[in-house]
Amino acid sequence: MSRMATVYIDNQPHAIDPKRNLLDGCLSLGFNLPYFCWHPALGSVGACRQCAVKQFKDENDKKGRLVMACMTPATDGTRISIQDPEAVEFRRAITEGLMQNHPHDCPVCDEGGECHLQDMTVMTGHDYRSYRFDKRTFRNQYLGPFVNHEMNRCIQCYRCVRFYREYAGGDDLHAFGLRDTVFFGRERDGVLENEFAGNLVEVCPTGVFTDATLKHHYTRKWDMQMSPSICIHCGLGCNIDAAERYGKLRRVVNRYNNEINGYFLCDRGRFGYEFANNEQRIRQPLISQEAVSLERGLWRWRQLISRHRIVGIGSPRASLESNFALRRLTGKDRFFSGLASQEFQLLKLMMDARRSGTVRWPSLAEIERCDAVLILGEDLTNVAPRMALAVRQSVRQQPIEQIAEPLKISRWMDHAVRDAVHEGKGPLFIATSNETKLDDFATRTFRGAPDDIARLGFAVAHAIDSGAPKPERLLQETAELASEIARALKDAKSPLIISGPSSGSAVVIQAAVNTALALTGSALAFTAPECNSIGLVLMEAPPLENAFGLEAETLIIVENDLYRRAPAPVVDQFLSKFLHVIALDSLANHTTARADLVLPAAAFAEGDGNLVNNESRAQRFFQAFVPAEPIQESWRWLGPWPKLDDVLDELTKEFPRLAPCIDAAPRSDFRIVGSKIPREPHRYSGRTAMLADVTVHEPQPPNDPDSALSFSMEGTPKQPPPPLIPFFWAPGWNSIQAVNKFQSEIAGPLKNDEHGVLLMEAGTAKPDFYRDIPEPFEIRNGRWLVVPLHHIFSSEELSRYAPGVAELSTSAYLALNPEDGTAIGAEALLLGNRLPVRIMPQLPKGVAGILAGVPPFEGIELPAWHAIARAI
Ligand code: SF4
Ligand code: SF4
Ligand code: FES
Repeated sequence: MSRMATVYIDNQPHAIDPKRNLLDGCLSLGFNLPYFCWHPALGSVGACRQCAVKQFKDENDKKGRLVMACMTPATDGTRISIQDPEAVEFRRAITEGLMQNHPHDCPVCDEGGECHLQDMTVMTGHDYRSYRFDKRTFRNQYLGPFVNHEMNRCIQCYRCVRFYREYAGGDDLHAFGLRDTVFFGRERDGVLENEFAGNLVEVCPTGVFTDATLKHHYTRKWDMQMSPSICIHCGLGCNIDAAERYGKLRRVVNRYNNEINGYFLCDRGRFGYEFANNEQRIRQPLISQEAVSLERGLWRWRQLISRHRIVGIGSPRASLESNFALRRLTGKDRFFSGLASQEFQLLKLMMDARRSGTVRWPSLAEIERCDAVLILGEDLTNVAPRMALAVRQSVRQQPIEQIAEPLKISRWMDHAVRDAVHEGKGPLFIATSNETKLDDFATRTFRGAPDDIARLGFAVAHAIDSGAPKPERLLQETAELASEIARALKDAKSPLIISGPSSGSAVVIQAAVNTALALTGSALAFTAPECNSIGLVLMEAPPLENAFGLEAETLIIVENDLYRRAPAPVVDQFLSKFLHVIALDSLANHTTARADLVLPAAAFAEGDGNLVNNESRAQRFFQAFVPAEPIQESWRWLGPWPKLDDVLDELTKEFPRLAPCIDAAPRSDFRIVGSKIPREPHRYSGRTAMLADVTVHEPQPPNDPDSALSFSMEGTPKQPPPPLIPFFWAPGWNSIQAVNKFQSEIAGPLKNDEHGVLLMEAGTAKPDFYRDIPEPFEIRNGRWLVVPLHHIFSSEELSRYAPGVAELSTSAYLALNPEDGTAIGAEALLLGNRLPVRIMPQLPKGVAGILAGVPPFEGIELPAWHAIARAI
């Protein structure tokens, strides 16, 4: 860390990192200083003038001058005053100016009660409106199912367009200016196209952009019961807060974790939660698909699991605890991971690289700091969206270091930095079968079949280290590209290789490992398909196919639709082998439809457990509310444990490798000054009235045996350890920007610095390179190599049941390049299915794409060669 600067604030000396600006420094020290246009992840532009402080030349200067704290560096010896009357009045007057056109509609505004503008208005003391004329009004736009628009509330801070365009790479949201009027929106009504648009809800400091899904079941922040949770819609493990009222999940907001998601989520993670309220929820035990009472369900359950041999199928979307509970019930030899063998092998390959290799597995925060990136085979925006957002920031590192820093422009001077570097981008190379949303940022892209992507990767590794095997018969242009990539990676301070299992190719992963091994000091990031894929592999259960030959009477499937893991006829045959099939799940699916007994499992916000993300980080999620009986966690249905600590103790005894999970969050007996941590804000209202139609007595809040959180507003007002923070609130800070008060320094770790525990450290021995290099891809007559394509709102299993996500999802199609598409025509036949053909200009000839996870191709193994015919 650089030497700290001494800054005098209202005559008191304080130590501030000189790399920070004064606003950032003051907030890091805990001072209340209002701001609008500055955002810790976006930097400073000095647009709103809200953060004014008085700066003095020295101790003899009594006059001073007003400066914007966000635009002033924290240099040693700086003297400022926050309390100076002129500064105080200036800030109040700025708020009054910003409020001049503001509609003052807090009582009917969705942002009311958690609005940064409200907070800053109170903080600056603006309490009387002198403006007596007409206000400026706008026509609002329809922006899609996720984000609502109410432009009259805008204070022209420009945060929205800066986030949307400059940070997230969107280009359909603009600032339109006419005379003294500025409008923030799209050219015309329409769905916001960027996959991170939902962050506008938190980035906008007032109620212009609000959560359109919350609007359908609106509740004020102070009336919600909240819990710390983990996103379950991909394998990155972004931290979220889930919020409930009246037994219904109301929304998900970002839970700051400086190592993973920072301030931002993707839209699948933010808005996919509504699957938990879907009418396809299983809320009662089902016997032969008929809803029955809990007692009857339990009676049948006991009947089926006693006196019978049992086989158990776990799931990468179930917690460690639920998988373990099933394994304990069936015995080690009769428990299977529920992963298709292809995916299982790919995940194992990734884990082996981690175990044996010396390469670093970076967090998303580290990815943002990398300065040269090679992506092999992953369409990040659609597979691991938050990682794509991290890569967008990493591409800025080299230009900032090489152009802005020599000009002594601090990183936080956002516009000055962007002016200096113009369109400059650091090296980013993307090798995939089809175009990706990151291509606009890429130095070079490469399109090829998975084997050709792998060959490029092997060639890069060889160009870096001649000890790595060399692909033969490489096209000259591919060889040149490999040399260019190798040079860029070698010249970088912090090079990064990204790969993963989503292209279904082992050789692509092997090529990524070779490149990382060749390049000393590089980082290797893998995506993971589901929220607990890595955790499940660490439990070392064999893949689903290994269960196919086993003899038993009863099959238990936990939170897994097997029709997404294997072809339907294969699953049909497997299920029909058993006398009894029991399924535990939260949503009805093809597998539960085949079960004799179905038990209702808790959705993520209704239960507790641990999940392991793509970097092997174990993180705990907690229930936001107790679901209506008989819904409960799968581990509770399956095991004898009265509380989470007990199952975790047994699990970690059985799997020493998973032992650090215990430290992923404090145990259930953790207390702060003898008190639990409230899930409800202290202004929570209607506790007695909420159930007045049922009882006039206030019911006892439910007990929570599993965590140190309480289901009430009673408890400690002190800041809990990070894994137990259910919401961000501090006196005077009702919006999500209260996170400032929870951080050890702005944009740094939360106080007490805990953000999950890594289960796997890199090995010390450098393994040998992979040496089996595939032959070049060759076109076949009448057959196409069908590869999986992914879509953020279509390919993931659960989020598709959220109405907003469903609105943006896509049904199956066949993607072909223009030449192949012309030959096939508008509709094609593939595996007996008639599909519309979509022309994708960048798909290589001879390669076809279908959407992974979308019916009717959910369970088929890809890539694979198939005949495709013109549909007549
Ligand atoms: S819409 Fe919100 S974020 Fe955008 S300029 Fe207006 S107030 Fe700022
Ligand atoms: S990137 Fe993945 S984990 Fe993060 S919010 Fe999106 S779906 Fe959830
Ligand atoms: S926050 Fe400093 S000028 Fe806007």
